[in-house]
Amino acid sequence: MQGTGNKAFDIAWVREQFPSLKLQVNGRTAAFLDGPAGTQVPKQVMDAAQNYFLTANANTCGAFPTSRRTNETILSARAAMADLFNCDSNEVVFGQNMTTITFALARAIGRELKAGDEIVVTTLDHDANVAPWRALEEKGVVIRQVDIRESDCTLDPDDLKRKITAKTKLVAVGYASNMVGTINPVAEIAKLAHAAGALMFIDAVHYAPHGLIDVKALDCDFLACSPYKFFGPHMGTLYGKREHLERFKPYKVRPATDVSPECWETGTQVQELIAGIAAAVDYIAELGQHCDSTAKSRREALRAAYHATHQYETGLLTRLIEGLQAIPEMRIFGITDAKRFDERCSTLSFRMGNHNPTAIATFLGDRGIFTWDGNFYALNLSERLGVEQHGGVLRVGLVHYNTMGEVERLLAALREFAA
Ligand SMILES: Cc1ncc(COP(=O)(O)O)c(C=O)c1O
Repeated sequence: MQGTGNKAFDIAWVREQFPSLKLQVNGRTAAFLDGPAGTQVPKQVMDAAQNYFLTANANTCGAFPTSRRTNETILSARAAMADLFNCDSNEVVFGQNMTTITFALARAIGRELKAGDEIVVTTLDHDANVAPWRALEEKGVVIRQVDIRESDCTLDPDDLKRKITAKTKLVAVGYASNMVGTINPVAEIAKLAHAAGALMFIDAVHYAPHGLIDVKALDCDFLACSPYKFFGPHMGTLYGKREHLERFKPYKVRPATDVSPECWETGTQVQELIAGIAAAVDYIAELGQHCDSTAKSRREALRAAYHATHQYETGLLTRLIEGLQAIPEMRIFGITDAKRFDERCSTLSFRMGNHNPTAIATFLGDRGIFTWDGNFYALNLSERLGVEQHGGVLRVGLVHYNTMGEVERLLAALREFAA
């Protein structure tokens, strides 16, 4: 898979690309372990947005240079996302965020559904991949929810097979859980969905900073993710198979084009941020080139980057779990067996005895260590694990710009809190 130009993971180079990582809190350098709610951005992304304002700021489709440049900016961002998804440029849709895109898509798909049709969602998912489908209950659509195995927070395969039936019209599953890090077997689930004649929608928001997406290999019908979770600006993007984007009818204003993918992008887009999306993909590719100088195309460079970051993040995760397990009254949710780390990413949630997760996050935050507490909108899961009424969990998100030193700092602070 990798060429011969592999180098050790250059964390110093990575951190140089992200100016905000130098932020100081109470005399300490901030440790950004909050990536699952949004990552920091490299300078390339900031420059792209600024450059757009300086040289291309206009609306689309006008007969003058800045407008033409805006069109080019959008086209090159579509091409960048097409390399990230492994699809054609005209299968890429931009939008405000994943939630808004998914509500719009569900509404469009819902036009073709009738009472008694079924949609399958899961207990593991963020509510942005549940609520938009549940909104179709107003039309009589029946929502079926796949349960988890509580011991390791993985989807229950038997329940999944039971819930997908001849009545199923769409299966909506997350690629990776934003609370416990479980990576779902989405390619297998897509096969089950298609065998039942249903569409497959994947929420890849949490997976995108950790693993290479390949919509062709997954054979999914739709896949959504959010650039602000993979080192880009606050936006959302959708992959849709061309046949579906052309057939389903989005709600739109009459003068706007009927041509896909533009017809899915209602109103004026945040073009300066679209410029930033291309820069985020290019940053990941640059990292890939840095890790493996033999990578030829942008797609190959992206593959090299994800290969390197997966290995690096797994090293951090291994130490984090080992360190947490040595703390009394620690309850880690999800997979902890190192032999199964390919089934999870480096996002981890836990509870420490009866301590309130907000109290722990505040203690850490005061020491410059940024973590999240609560349910992170993975409401079904928080309820299923019985933690919702107790403040949820404490979540640590490790991405490729985090360091072993930060993991040790976190563990030391947690030991201090526990004592
Ligand atoms: C797994 C997952 N899906 C969906 C979303 C919603 O994404 P957005 O904020 O782009 O609407 C999030 C955001 O945290 C998420 O983590």
